[in-house]
Amino acid sequence: MNLVPMADILQDAHERTYAVGGFNINNMEFLQGIIRGAEELNSPLILQASEGAIRYIGMDYVIKMVEAAAKDTAIPIALHLDHGSSFESIMNCIRAGFSSVMIDASKKPFEENIALTKKVVETAHSVGVSVEAELGTLSGTEDDHTVEEKDAMYTDPDQALEFVEKTGIDALAVAIGTAHGVYKGKPELDFPRLKKIKELIEMPVVLHGASGISAEDLERAVDYGVNKVNVNTDFQQAFTSKVKELFAEKPELYDPRKYCGPGRDAITAKVKEKIKILGSNDKAW
Ligand code: G3H
Ligand code: ZN
Repeated sequence: MNLVPMADILQDAHERTYAVGGFNINNMEFLQGIIRGAEELNSPLILQASEGAIRYIGMDYVIKMVEAAAKDTAIPIALHLDHGSSFESIMNCIRAGFSSVMIDASKKPFEENIALTKKVVETAHSVGVSVEAELGTLSGTEDDHTVEEKDAMYTDPDQALEFVEKTGIDALAVAIGTAHGVYKGKPELDFPRLKKIKELIEMPVVLHGASGISAEDLERAVDYGVNKVNVNTDFQQAFTSKVKELFAEKPELYDPRKYCGPGRDAITAKVKEKIKILGSNDKAW
């Protein structure tokens, strides 16, 4: 399998000011739909699986499916653990063959976040695996975990610099006003904060909760230094809307291929839309 470390993909994006999708897989149709979209636009790709998705699909299936899907592609692909919650969970993914991991200790006190992240970086880097970590807290729902709006906390730029210097991570996920899942109102992003963080840390920045963010705001975030944009909910909605539409037209449908196939095509179309906004088309090497 031609998986590459995420750091290689993000370094180019950082140097040339574009962003690569961190696109979540939930099942085989997501995997195939996402890879096809990235291939059609000749874009590098970060395929990511959350712990919930790995539990749902099964670790062996994740690895074998990605292996099968990536076998004949020419684009660089990283397989990334999204929101890794513990050292053990991260080690499982590295042993299984992931080329990148996220340690999300953002809900822990600052010093504990640094200590755990540093431990993950030392181990992961020793075997060529990239590490993303998070500072600040997003609200919303990811897998089965919900953070209330009142508990969200924006990333402090000075702390961000201290955090990256002390941990040695490859990419920093920041909280600047996005949220996981479906937005209740119109999201307002704190662009001056993003600009300040990027100027201080001078390395790849990650935006979580990017579904539901307008193309204009995403483009601006990329201009201000975001290099990885995480999308899951938009693809889930694209797939499910297509399936619902088909059932509304033909309630007698019973063959899953007849609705999962079009659902997969809807994901591909949405992936291509995102890639063009992020500017990663024709950036594959
Ligand atoms: O880590 C995954 C992403 O942050 C998902 O965000 O719920 O806006 O698609 P989303
Ligand atoms: Zn996220």
